[in-house]
Amino acid sequence: MTEETIGKILYTEDEIRARAAELGKQITQDYKGEELIILGTLKGAVMWMCDLIKNINLDTKIDFISASSYGSGTTSTGIVKVSKDVDFDLYKKNVLIVEDIIDTGFTLNYLKKYLQDRRPKSVKICTMLDKPSRRRVDLTAEYIGFVVDDLFIIGYGLDFDQKYRNLPYISYLEPSVVPEE
Ligand code: PRP
Repeated sequence: MTEETIGKILYTEDEIRARAAELGKQITQDYKGEELIILGTLKGAVMWMCDLIKNINLDTKIDFISASSYGSGTTSTGIVKVSKDVDFDLYKKNVLIVEDIIDTGFTLNYLKKYLQDRRPKSVKICTMLDKPSRRRVDLTAEYIGFVVDDLFIIGYGLDFDQKYRNLPYISYLEPSVVPEE
């Protein structure tokens, strides 16, 4: 039986894992000798987080944070609510936020400031996907898996109406099947 592919594939599981390995090695070098707190953002970053942390060879603690933008449709509004916070004290710690996608940048812009209020040593971002053409605030990730065009992307953690997060690849849906915002 052949499994049906949902959408058009952009990146296969092998390609994503290979990129996670490259970035994991880079992060290991960059933080050599330092402790690192790695915070995955729920829910979208879960798969990417798993791939990444297997390739980070440092003294680490991991946790998850859940922050979502209010709003309907497919666009952030800039008003962000944190519904699951970090369990650790971040004072004087290196923090790496692991995200699935940066679109407008509103969510991470808020989250970065929110975490900086705890006076960590550093806060950096590792995102699986970056969609710079949609950016509404000045925000750059230090570690980027892949830069993507303005497409409706699903799979590998990313959803459409909460579906398709489990797809073992990154694909995109044609505009004709995605409702207007
Ligand atoms: C998605 C994604 C980012 C955010 C990016 O989260 O995980 O956090 O949107 O958009 P922005 O750059 O325009 O703010 P979402 O709120 O859909 O939650 P999810 O991870 O549970 O899907």
